[in-house]
Amino acid sequence: MASKPSIHRDQRLHPLQYRWKSTQCLKQNLMQGTKDKVIVITGASSGIGEATAVMLAERGAKVVLGARGLERLEGLARRIAGAGGEVAYAQTDVRKREDVTSLVNLACERYGKLDVLMNNAGIGPISPLDDLRVEDWENMIDINIKGVLYGIAAALPVFRKQGFGHFVNTASTAGIIVHPNMAVYAGTKFAVRAISEGLRQEAGDKLRVTIISPGFVRTDFTESMTSPEMKAQIRDSMDKMAISPDAIARAIVFAIEQPADVDVGEIIVRPTAQG
Ligand SMILES: NC(=O)c1ccc[n+]([C@@H]2O[C@H](COP(=O)([O-])OP(=O)(O)OC[C@H]3O[C@@H](n4cnc5c(N)ncnc54)[C@H](OP(=O)(O)O)[C@@H]3O)[C@@H](O)[C@H]2O)c1
Repeated sequence: MASKPSIHRDQRLHPLQYRWKSTQCLKQNLMQGTKDKVIVITGASSGIGEATAVMLAERGAKVVLGARGLERLEGLARRIAGAGGEVAYAQTDVRKREDVTSLVNLACERYGKLDVLMNNAGIGPISPLDDLRVEDWENMIDINIKGVLYGIAAALPVFRKQGFGHFVNTASTAGIIVHPNMAVYAGTKFAVRAISEGLRQEAGDKLRVTIISPGFVRTDFTESMTSPEMKAQIRDSMDKMAISPDAIARAIVFAIEQPADVDVGEIIVRPTAQG
């Protein structure tokens, strides 16, 4: 006689209970990819870095935050800890190699490992080349390119020793298409993409490298602009079409939560309205 098919426990649940349980399982699965990961974020005190820190902490990651402005870092850390998250922070200027090294060391000392370094700090004081705002050019090169290199120099030996690790480097759609007035900024972001791709090719089968290339995102980004005309122009475009930094944070979470043998190489996230 054929045995009676067994009824799966969940089949006895009311459909609403079943749906709730499925959502919980899905949530738990997603959290597994971020839960307890130790994640250092530079430029964490506002905009994309801040949104990513909050989202990752909500998903169980231990976030280690760096930026120059201590007050904003402290406020953000309080908010994350108040919501039950694990957080550490240190005042960090990515123009100083020793600051970036200390931030990575803080993560390793506090939490015993480093899973992800998000090289996110960046500025965009754009202007026509004819303006000769040479100091702005130098700052963009120092923060957007050399800051990322200092991050790589700090984390790569740690990742090699551990046998795992993930770089997430913030580039830009300006690293894909050059527009007038953006030559130097675009140059720094082309450089971030080139360095990241080279790093990916050298990384071997244990490390992961992700480039995140955002379009217009509603952040404090225009604050670094020294040309009043450019600032007004970009603010206007932002008001018209910029998307929330959460949209970028979601993409970063997606890359981080993938299994260890899956490398999400590059994600471009831009407003639908952006040409
Ligand atoms: N918003 C956009 O439309 C957009 C588009 C494409 C790409 N991006 C890129 O996204 C990244 C984040 O920018 P965001 O839009 O989130 O702008 P944001 O709100 O201005 O955030 C920039 C962050 O970088 C930090 N920072 C600046 N200089 C630093 C330095 N020398 N050392 C350490 N931290 C520094 C800032 O904090 P402190 O000033 O306190 O240090 C802040 O936390 C940048 O790499 C930017 O190029 C932005």
